[in-house]
Amino acid sequence: MSHGPEWLVALERSALAVWMRQALWAYPVAEVVHLVGVALLVGCAAAFDLRLLGLSGHLSVQHLAVHLLPWAWRGFGLAAVTGTLMFAAHASDWWQNPVFPVKMGLVALGGVNVWVFRRGAYRSVARWDRGAPPPAARVAGAVSLAVWLATVACGRLLAYL
Ligand code: HEM
Repeated sequence: MSHGPEWLVALERSALAVWMRQALWAYPVAEVVHLVGVALLVGCAAAFDLRLLGLSGHLSVQHLAVHLLPWAWRGFGLAAVTGTLMFAAHASDWWQNPVFPVKMGLVALGGVNVWVFRRGAYRSVARWDRGAPPPAARVAGAVSLAVWLATVACGRLLAYL
């Protein structure tokens, strides 16, 4: 079973990984919570991204950010914790899976996109709060939508490869 770099074998043989494999409900519960996290992250991010793409221009971007983005982060937190638990349980198999690095790359790209948006277009939000977002904000919204939908697709494809 255990093959791959030393840290990976150690992770897969850890007490937590053994428990994730042997406890009847641990893995199924982790998968359900993973999906709840994904739904929160992708649902809240998509609602905000559609505003960045120019829809519902009467809605304040700042108010939407305050309402939606904390829940998107909470969803990401749930997905990251449960994803790591599921990864640990079968680390050497996921390590061999060609879709897994693509999925992790997309998650990193999603994070970089948020960072660039926060330090770029969002700094001038007061000027376009209830109007048409500037091109940089629209690009951030489009990249975010594409990245999270592609991550969902990769997550589902993991089981098939
Ligand atoms: C951040 C770290 C993450 C890790 C380490 C991770 C890891 C995993 C693993 C190991 C699985 C396979 C579960 C299985 O089929 O047995 C999985 C499934 C999945 N992941 Fe993630 N994931 C992470 C984040 C995300 C994010 C951010 C999304 C979506 C935006 C996502 C979407 C999915 C989906 C849709 C599935 C399929 C669930 C199913 O078929 O029941 N994951 N993830």
